[in-house]
Amino acid sequence: MSSATYTPRHLLITGGAGFIGSNLVHYILEHAPGTHIVNLDALTYAGNLANLADAQKNPNYKFVHVDIRDADAMNRIMAEHEIDAVIHLAAESHVDRSITGPGVFVETNVSGTLNLLRAAREARAQRFLQVGTDEVYGSLGPTGMFTETTPLDPHSPYSASKAAADHLVSAWWHTYQFPTLITRCSNNYGPYQFPEKLLPLMINNARQSKPLPVYGDGLNVRDWLHVHDHCAALWTVLTRGRPGEVYNVGGNNEKTNLEVVRAVLGLMGKPESLITYVKDRPGHDRRYAIDATKMMTEFGWKPSVTFETGLRMTVDWYRDHQSWLEQIVSGEYQRYYEQMYGRR
Ligand code: NAD
Ligand code: DAU
Repeated sequence: MSSATYTPRHLLITGGAGFIGSNLVHYILEHAPGTHIVNLDALTYAGNLANLADAQKNPNYKFVHVDIRDADAMNRIMAEHEIDAVIHLAAESHVDRSITGPGVFVETNVSGTLNLLRAAREARAQRFLQVGTDEVYGSLGPTGMFTETTPLDPHSPYSASKAAADHLVSAWWHTYQFPTLITRCSNNYGPYQFPEKLLPLMINNARQSKPLPVYGDGLNVRDWLHVHDHCAALWTVLTRGRPGEVYNVGGNNEKTNLEVVRAVLGLMGKPESLITYVKDRPGHDRRYAIDATKMMTEFGWKPSVTFETGLRMTVDWYRDHQSWLEQIVSGEYQRYYEQMYGRR
């Protein structure tokens, strides 16, 4: 069913200094030595070049400090680097921030995606992979799963902006036959995740014996996937996916937030009395669950890291990289660019 394999020569990764993007850069440098990567990132609060210290030495890797809201810069980068494929991750990604400040979510996630689509089409790119989220499907009751044909029903400003971006990407396929692909993935966890998201926040608080803030009753359900499995899925879809298609990516691993938090405390040897119930997130989606059958049947992709192993690896990684966490908390990480490239 899948089309012939496409291996990009000059791949643009947007948002490569963030959590998934930096893991993806490492993954592709390791698995696709014939591909040159240009990592385009605006280095917002979520971008951290320390995540890519090793990649800097690789001749197949280049970083460009650019904002996707700058349409002219998008055209320039595509032409200058002879980009033939794009994996688009750059986004404002945190639901809580979208509730207090939705404007930048529309600017980056919607208008920024429009700029990229225009520039990539103008440059005649051969593949454009939009890295989407399961949150665009809305919220599930106790049963059922999201499939690729589930209607979009986003509930937060974040997921609404991601849904709008998905619609634009889909329009570029239908209107211009521009070869787009969309993935929609469940909650990722693993190294280099910014400590505003559930897992690194809880690990960071637990290591300091600070309260662990659980929203509402703690019974909201997320489907957790290790970031390395997401990276493998993204590379698979980019190189083997059929243009115009959507692919759901998930861990088949549903957990309540309380289960996740208790597991973290258990692994870290910290007491459950640190759990503190706080006011719920407005519009908090109750349950997400992804049906990834299409990825499995079309490509043979499946999660390779069990949650038990992945969580242990993740807790160990943050324990072994406490200075990474501390540089974020202190703001020191934002001076990394200056150390590597001189003054901004
Ligand atoms: P992140 O917040 O860790 O990283 C986002 C990156 O984008 C940062 O490096 C940031 O500097 C950059 N960026 C933000 N605005 C930019 C702009 N205007 N121009 C250029 N760069 C900009 O996010 P993440 O968790 O790594 O998520 C990456 C992508 O994957 C997002 O599109 C997100 O919607 C999607 N996604 C995330 C998850 C998850 O669980 N984290 C799951 C499914 C899909
Ligand atoms: O499902 C994919 C999405 O997963 C991605 O598209 C988003 O970019 C990513 O941020 C993530 O969204 P969530 O809202 O699910 O992730 P977050 O880590 O913010 O929260 C996970 C769950 O934990 C959610 O039910 C809210 C809850 N939570 C979160 C935080 C930060 C708490 O109970 N306490 C907290 O302090």
